[in-house]
Amino acid sequence: NIGKSTNILWHDCPIGQSDRQMLLGQKGCVVWITGLSGSGKSTLACALSRELHYRGHLTYVLDGDNLRHGLNRDLSFKAEDRAENIRRVGEVAKLFADAGIICIASLISPYRRDRDACRALLPDSKFIEVFMDLPLQLCESRDPKGLYKLARTGKIKGFTGIDDPYEPPVNGEIVIKMKDGECPSPKAMAKQVLCYLEENG
Ligand code: PPS
Repeated sequence: NIGKSTNILWHDCPIGQSDRQMLLGQKGCVVWITGLSGSGKSTLACALSRELHYRGHLTYVLDGDNLRHGLNRDLSFKAEDRAENIRRVGEVAKLFADAGIICIASLISPYRRDRDACRALLPDSKFIEVFMDLPLQLCESRDPKGLYKLARTGKIKGFTGIDDPYEPPVNGEIVIKMKDGECPSPKAMAKQVLCYLEENG
């Protein structure tokens, strides 16, 4: 059994989630933003964090790109490594929510099964899935890091949306879409999520 966690016990702490929530005056939850590279996940995460912060709420952003500089630096973009990436971030996000913080996770998280596994870690109302439903052509035309270009010329293999799959959510809580051929502004996207959070306590 070396290498696996066995013979372990759970320890409870006398100060629990409700004590922390009372102290902070808010309930923790996970806002999970999924979508293609260049779809605006990080932009929404930052805008939402700003809006909530100015309303007096404690937030923390877990950004896929950033986490791959540390916690997840050992992971590639193969399906099983992406699954492990999402599993780790799901567990970390759960801890943040348990701490009473509004945790905003922004990762491509291309596989439905991996996102659903994160959802299953939390009570129903505490996992809010936000789908950046913007066309690949738009994301590719933005290409903020030049990665689509590298993927199209074969210099990056297994790039999501080009030669690797993206499975859109089927029953997510929030969908961010184009309106009248225009992308919503960061503020408008944040407002859409804020409204949902307010309406759902
Ligand atoms: S995943 O699929 O959820 O594990 O990806 P994530 O941890 O969110 O990291 C996505 C960022 O990694 C860069 N990148 C790639 N994305 C997709 N496919 C491949 N092969 C790839 N290689 C590098 C890219 O900058 C992603 O950032 P965003 O912010 O999504 O553009």
